[in-house]
Amino acid sequence: MGTSLLITAVLVLLVGTAVKGCPPSDKAALLAFKAALHEPYLGIFKSWKGNDCCKKWYGISCDPTTKRVADINLRGESEDPIFQKAHRTGYMNGTISPAICKLTRLSSVIIADWKGISGIIPPCISSLPFLRILDLIGNQLSGEIPFDIGKLSRLTVLNIADNRITGRMPRSIANLSSLMHLDLRNNLISGTIPQNFGKLRMLSRALLSGNRIYGPIPYTISYIYRLSDLDLSLNRISGPVPESLGKMAVLATLNLDGNMISGKLPATLINSSISILNLSRNAIEGNIPDVFGPRSYFMMMDLSYNNLKGPIPKSIASASYIGHLDLSHNHLCGAIPAGSWFEHLEAASFVNNDCLCGKPLKSC
Ligand SMILES: *[C@@H]1O[C@H](CO)[C@@H](O)[C@H](O)[C@H]1NC(C)=O
Ligand SMILES: *[C@@H]1O[C@H](CO)[C@@H](O)[C@H](O)[C@H]1NC(C)=O
Ligand SMILES: *[C@@H]1O[C@H](CO)[C@@H](O)[C@H](O)[C@H]1NC(C)=O
Ligand SMILES: *[C@@H]1O[C@H](CO)[C@@H](O)[C@H](O)[C@H]1NC(C)=O
Repeated sequence: MGTSLLITAVLVLLVGTAVKGCPPSDKAALLAFKAALHEPYLGIFKSWKGNDCCKKWYGISCDPTTKRVADINLRGESEDPIFQKAHRTGYMNGTISPAICKLTRLSSVIIADWKGISGIIPPCISSLPFLRILDLIGNQLSGEIPFDIGKLSRLTVLNIADNRITGRMPRSIANLSSLMHLDLRNNLISGTIPQNFGKLRMLSRALLSGNRIYGPIPYTISYIYRLSDLDLSLNRISGPVPESLGKMAVLATLNLDGNMISGKLPATLINSSISILNLSRNAIEGNIPDVFGPRSYFMMMDLSYNNLKGPIPKSIASASYIGHLDLSHNHLCGAIPAGSWFEHLEAASFVNNDCLCGKPLKSC
């Protein structure tokens, strides 16, 4: 009798510990976060009830041992059945409450593609020491990137694309020593690229397209050994293309189109690991370097709308591959070199130059 009571007591204790669930303070923070948002169509927050926020609260997951909230994963565009049932993508308005900063064990914050969430990125977000992923793409967020974002030493993904963020890139951004993926596309960010940007040694994608960034491309970018995708297109960048970009080990995509870049086309870009190169709509001048060779492998090379002059270099015929080539709207002149991979190119690749001739244009 006594033994079974003891066993029961132990069981109750064990079960009691197991179902303890998330701490009341985490639950309160989540409810405050929810209170600042309005999600009229899917009802995702209807699941946010009961004491254990680790259990069946849509988009929330907890650390299995500490039961602290570890992830907020709310995507307005997803394959989740809740969206299929509603036959629509998500929409939310309201703001991101600073109450989420009380969730001090957060590792990822994904509040993406809700289209209507406005207000600022809570500055306190930079005090979440365990944050690895911050993804707020596709909302209406305004204000600036928190100036001390660089404190997030574990951050690997910073994605705030497709919002209305203003101000400059904070200098501290270069302190994000774990950052691999930076996406700030399509905002209203101005100012220059921080000179110390090259400190981001883990960075593999830097996507800054569609902002108001001006000034030169810091050559320190070429110190980023792992960088494979650099997109600075549709900004107000000026000055030359640093020659060092063509010497980077794994840079595969370089989009600098739609800026005010001047100077010559560095020969290093022609003979590099780059396979997608868009320099269209700049003010690049001088000749196209005659250094094409077996290392020149381009899925796409768009040099249109610049001030390039002289002939199309003969060596271009020795490139391994050029899938899509656009040299239109320059000041090139002379015979288009013959080469097997040229066969598929259309006149549009060469039109609006000074005096190019030969197939696929009219014969010389
Ligand atoms: C959110 O949208 C609803 C309509 O769906 C509107 O009534 C409400 O005022 C909006 N709230 C905010 C904070 O914009
Ligand atoms: C970057 O981190 C270093 C070392 O922690 C610190 O001294 C420096 O002030 C930080 N830079 C910025 C711009 O926050
Ligand atoms: C290159 O950039 C220009 C200007 O932004 C754009 O119009 C064009 O479509 C791009 N080229 C390719 C092949 O994607
Ligand atoms: C192309 O690059 C390789 C390696 O970077 C170099 O050895 C070679 O000389 C270059 N060729 C030309 C034609 O510049």
